[in-house]
Amino acid sequence: MARLVRHDAVGPIEVKPQEKSVWVCACGLSQSLPFCDGSHNAAKKNEKPGTLCIYDKARKAVVETKPDA
Ligand code: FES
Repeated sequence: MARLVRHDAVGPIEVKPQEKSVWVCACGLSQSLPFCDGSHNAAKKNEKPGTLCIYDKARKAVVETKPDA
């Protein structure tokens, strides 16, 4: 599975060293970027292998799906 997510940021976000692990979002769907907020769980549940999912601007809903060529 793959997804297209619109990002408006134009620069990096610093994650300073922490005492505990810090989970940085890699799926692009977090509402708390750069940190993971668990939104990837919905993607894992709803996205199907071989499908390209295009998300809305709020990164909350799939608005279109296509075969992932
Ligand atoms: S990896 Fe993106 S919300 Fe968890």
